[in-house]
Amino acid sequence: MAGRHFLQIPGPTNVPDRVLRALSAPTIDHRSGEFAAIARDAIAGLRQVFQTAGAVAVFPSSGTGAWESALVNTLSPGDAILMFETGHFATLWRNMAERLGLRVDFVAGDWRRGVDPKAVETKLAEDRAHALKAVAVVHNETSTGVASRIAAVRERIDAVRHPALLIVDTISSLGSIDHRHDEWNVDVSVGCSQKGLMLPPGLGFNAISDKAIAASKSARLPRSYWDWTPMLAENRSGFFPYTPATNLLYGLREAVHMLLDEGLPNVFARHRRHGEATRRAVRAWGLELVCCDPHEFSDSLTAVMMPAGHDADAFRETVLDRFNMSLGTGLGKLKGRVFRIGHLGDFNDLMLAGTLAGVEMGLAKSRVPFARGGVAAALEYLVSG
Ligand SMILES: Cc1ncc(COP(=O)(O)O)c(C=O)c1O
Repeated sequence: MAGRHFLQIPGPTNVPDRVLRALSAPTIDHRSGEFAAIARDAIAGLRQVFQTAGAVAVFPSSGTGAWESALVNTLSPGDAILMFETGHFATLWRNMAERLGLRVDFVAGDWRRGVDPKAVETKLAEDRAHALKAVAVVHNETSTGVASRIAAVRERIDAVRHPALLIVDTISSLGSIDHRHDEWNVDVSVGCSQKGLMLPPGLGFNAISDKAIAASKSARLPRSYWDWTPMLAENRSGFFPYTPATNLLYGLREAVHMLLDEGLPNVFARHRRHGEATRRAVRAWGLELVCCDPHEFSDSLTAVMMPAGHDADAFRETVLDRFNMSLGTGLGKLKGRVFRIGHLGDFNDLMLAGTLAGVEMGLAKSRVPFARGGVAAALEYLVSG
C-alpha cells in the first residue's frame, strides 16, 4: 500500500528515523573502546529515564527476560511473593513466578482496575512473620490500558513497615508515563526497548536498588545468563559478559538522547494529552473503555470494549486491509472483545488524528453501532490544549 503503515499497537512502536539511522551504523567490535564509550553513554541516559542514580542492567532480551532476571536475582526457591491480577501480563508474570518455584499470593482482579494500594497494605499487615519477600506490580497493564499507582503502593508498604522488595514492571510506562525508581523506592524496575523507548524489540532492562543488590547476594534461585553480578561489573566500563546487541545499543543511545532532549516532563505531558484526546474520542463514539477508574487511565494506550455481537479482531482486520493501520488485539480473556489503540513513543498530534480517523472509518466500514464525532472531539481537545 502507498504511504506509511500506521503501527498503532501498544508496542513495538514506531521507530523514529533518527533511531533507525543510528541502528544502521556498521557493527563494530564489542570489546573496543569505541563501543564501550557508546554503551556507557546509552546506559547513563537510560538511568536518567528510569529516574535513578543507581544501577541499570541491560540484557539482550525481550521484556520477559527482564521479568525473569528481576525474580531470579532477588528470590529463593519457595519464597512467597504478592502479585495482583490486573490483566494478561500480570497473569503471565505470575505463571513465570510459579514455574520458577515461588509461592505466589495472587490477588484476583477483574482486568478493569489497577492494584488497590489498600489491598497491598492489608496483605502485608496480615503477614506478621514477613514471609512475603516481594510485592510485584505491573505499572501499566498493556492488555487493559490501566495504570496502577506505584507511589501509593509504596506508601502503603511503608505504612506497615514491611521489608518486602517492591518489583515493578514498567514495560509500557517507561519513557511514556512518569516512573520514579529512586523517589518511590522501587527495588527492581523492569523495562524493555520496544515501547516508550522507541526501539525495536531486543533489549531488556533492570533498574536495581541497593537493597535489591543486597538481596541478590543471598538469593538462591538458579541464575546464569540473567545474573546481575557479572553484568553490572562489566557494564561499568561499557562492556558485557557476553555478546551484547551492538546495534540496538546504538539505537538506545539515540533514543535516550531524544527523550532527554525533549525533557521527561514534556514527554509525559505529551503522552497525557494524547491519552486524554483518545479517551474523548472513544466516549464521543459511545464506546466503553476497559479502564473503570479515571485515576488509573493509561496515557500510553487505550483499550476499548467492542459492542456485544461484534468481533474486535474482524474490525482490526478491516482497519488493516482498508487503511494500513495495525491496532492491538484483545489478549487472553479479552480476545475478540477488545481492541487497543497505542499512543506511545514517537508520536504527535497529526499521527494521533490519523490514528483516530482510521478507527472511526473502520467502525463505519465494519458496521459497528457507534456515534460519529470521536475524531472531532479529539481535535477540539488538541487545539484547545
Ligand atoms: C506490561 C508488559 N509486561 C511484559 C511484557 C512482555 O514483554 P515481551 O513481550 O517483550 O517479552 C509486555 C509485552 O507487551 C508488557 O506489555
